[in-house]
Amino acid sequence: MAVERTLSIIKPDAVAKNVIGEIYSRFEKAGLNIIAARMLHLSKEQAGEFYAVHRERPFYNELVEFMTSGPVMVQVLEGDEAIAKNREVMGATNPAEAAPGTIRADFAKTVDENAVHGSDAPETARAEIAFFFNDDEICPRTR
Ligand code: TYD
Repeated sequence: MAVERTLSIIKPDAVAKNVIGEIYSRFEKAGLNIIAARMLHLSKEQAGEFYAVHRERPFYNELVEFMTSGPVMVQVLEGDEAIAKNREVMGATNPAEAAPGTIRADFAKTVDENAVHGSDAPETARAEIAFFFNDDEICPRTR
């Protein structure tokens, strides 16, 4: 199994619900190590650029509004198959379709406010990690 890194965001709805700790606990139980983390309140420019791939989608403006509606918690997760494992722990994009016990099934109500983001492929993971963190802000485990 390949050790990977992935970018995770706890979105404003989940931060507002006070479930950062519960979500971190799920990462840890899944063997995903948190090797960088920061809380920030995204600007419209930052959120727009982060989701630029969705610029032509009908939900883009609302997505940017939502992502800037409160602070987010951003982290780099590292572990075996971290990209797929994180997406498994997150559950489907639409919480109504998310498997029981997943973060979105338990903490999200709608597709547009769905608690967490996770990179979907190695190239996007690399780009998304670099979007938020410098190399010297990432702290891989040494024990
Ligand atoms: P997407 O990349 O399809 O899902 P995922 O976050 O699971 O990788 O969509 C990105 C985000 O866009 C999604 O988390 C929430 C938002 N979104 C909507 O607001 N409405 C929608 O109909 C879809 C498909 C996504």
